[in-house]
Amino acid sequence: MVVMMERSFLAGFLLVGNLLSVGDANPQEVKLYVRRGENIMLPCHLTSGLDPETVSVRWKSSKDSYLTSGKRVFKYDNQIEVVKTSTNHWNLLIKAATDKFAANYTCTADQNVLLSRVQLLVLFAPKIEYGGSSSPKVNVDEGGTVELTCEFTGEPVPNITWLRGDDKHPIGITGSKLFMRHVKRYATDVYTCRGKNSVSFYDYAINLAVKFSVEVDVMEKTIYVKRGAMFTISCITQGEPLYDMYWIDVHGVKVTSSMWKYNFTTEPAGANVPANFVTLETRTGTQNDFGKYTCEAKGEGRVAKATVEVIELN
Ligand SMILES: *[C@@H]1O[C@H](CO)[C@@H](O)[C@H](O)[C@H]1NC(C)=O
Ligand SMILES: *[C@@H]1O[C@H](CO)[C@@H](O)[C@H](O)[C@H]1NC(C)=O
Ligand SMILES: *[C@@H]1O[C@H](CO)[C@@H](O)[C@H](O)[C@H]1NC(C)=O
Repeated sequence: MVVMMERSFLAGFLLVGNLLSVGDANPQEVKLYVRRGENIMLPCHLTSGLDPETVSVRWKSSKDSYLTSGKRVFKYDNQIEVVKTSTNHWNLLIKAATDKFAANYTCTADQNVLLSRVQLLVLFAPKIEYGGSSSPKVNVDEGGTVELTCEFTGEPVPNITWLRGDDKHPIGITGSKLFMRHVKRYATDVYTCRGKNSVSFYDYAINLAVKFSVEVDVMEKTIYVKRGAMFTISCITQGEPLYDMYWIDVHGVKVTSSMWKYNFTTEPAGANVPANFVTLETRTGTQNDFGKYTCEAKGEGRVAKATVEVIELN
């Protein structure tokens, strides 16, 4: 449409100007890309029929109006140059392009004869916009709703995909928001939004913690052990946050690490399972070592407990 109009306008002008040869009357229309900091040449060459000795050729941008006339540069003269590779070329060289050069440019001859139109896009890598994005640490109560947001800038506009875990596996969600409802404790993880365009990509990590109050379970509520024999008792603790977990022995002693009498271990129950195994290994010495052992987990404002009864096997 635009091309058509320009062509008929040009034809009209040539008719009025009594020129016989219409020649290469199509103005050049191009879209060019330049990376930030690089140089770019915008093409412009005279249509046959216009005299390169007398014509005046100007470059104009949609942002800055007239930039050049002939070889003269009006603006950004340390970054702009008119390069005449031949007598009928008036190419515009932009050096070390910055964002301000992203504009639409027109190269015109006298009487507004359009010679070329260039849409220049200044490309740059995706960049996270902290103001429009979730903070790197997000908490949500179990059963609640959470929305993680990432905002990127970049040219071309970056595509956003969501990844989960340390291995960053895709979860099939695209776009700036990751919305989760009825959040389960197992959703606790690191979520990464990746902004990607043709220049490169950028990853932004958000640690989601699903809060729930502490819980403790024991494997077996009662165990039977011969005097002098080894035995192992184990509990599972869960909670977010989970500040502490330990056993309290039959004598009321709190066991948080291995002591001469006990081997004490805690180990995570698995990836994405917010639970731990808390294990106590010992040998019954005297009859006093039989009785109740309590596993405790300390969370926010709450301590959860479960007991194991160790009974002497005769
Ligand atoms: C340049 O022109 C195109 C199409 O005519 C338009 O979509 C775009 O917004 C313009 N760009 C600028 C920077 O003016
Ligand atoms: C971004 O997504 C659009 C549409 O889904 C696709 O056409 C385009 O190729 C993608 N670009 C990149 C850089 O992945
Ligand atoms: C602790 O573990 C070590 C190595 O497995 C074992 O030799 C020792 O008997 C254990 N001690 C107790 C008190 O269970």
